[in-house]
Amino acid sequence: METQISTMPRIGDTAPDFEAITTTGKIKLSEFAKDKWIIMFSHPADFTPVCTTEMAGFANEKDFWAKHNTQLLGLSIDSIHAHIAWINAVNEKTKVLFDFPIIADLDMSVAKLYGMLQPGESETAAVRAVFFIDPSKKIRLVMYYPLNVGRNMEEIKRSLLALQTSDEHKVAMPLNWMPGDKVIIPAPKTIEALAERKASNLEMVDWYLAKKSL
Ligand code: BEZ
Repeated sequence: METQISTMPRIGDTAPDFEAITTTGKIKLSEFAKDKWIIMFSHPADFTPVCTTEMAGFANEKDFWAKHNTQLLGLSIDSIHAHIAWINAVNEKTKVLFDFPIIADLDMSVAKLYGMLQPGESETAAVRAVFFIDPSKKIRLVMYYPLNVGRNMEEIKRSLLALQTSDEHKVAMPLNWMPGDKVIIPAPKTIEALAERKASNLEMVDWYLAKKSL
């Protein structure tokens, strides 16, 4: 029998609420990390090689997440004991500490709620999902990777900065935008705004595509 996937949260949705047991205690998402961005991500299984490299990647960026007002929240369909044993093993071997909360989603309820269980890939392990949730608990960006391809930490960090910069300055980010690059100013919405734009000395490819430095 095929496993049912109940939902697939989309960009713009309020992040579905849940309660869960994590490696730092019980949480309820709607009350978790108030006023912060949340990066919630799943990994297929504890004690597996790709997952270990990814978790270390998240842990090693601790200062970056703190500087950018972001709370990590991991998840896999493993027990709390497996999580603790894995954290301890990695810490003893490498000194890296996964000190952010990791959900023990043994009944797969959160994985199903977030479309992390994709039966064509695996019936029993979550895919590598990343949900960027803003301080109002709205889902702003979603990534899904398969079991055999690790994520790119630079792209995760870049995506977070792009979202935060876009919100702060009401601008959009062009292809391959990196912090410090020029940003796109929203296109004029009135004839008057069009005239203003044409008279401006903004860097302009056409009237609807203008860039500026922040
Ligand atoms: C890994 O993290 O190495 C992995 C986990 C599940 C399936 C395949 C690879």
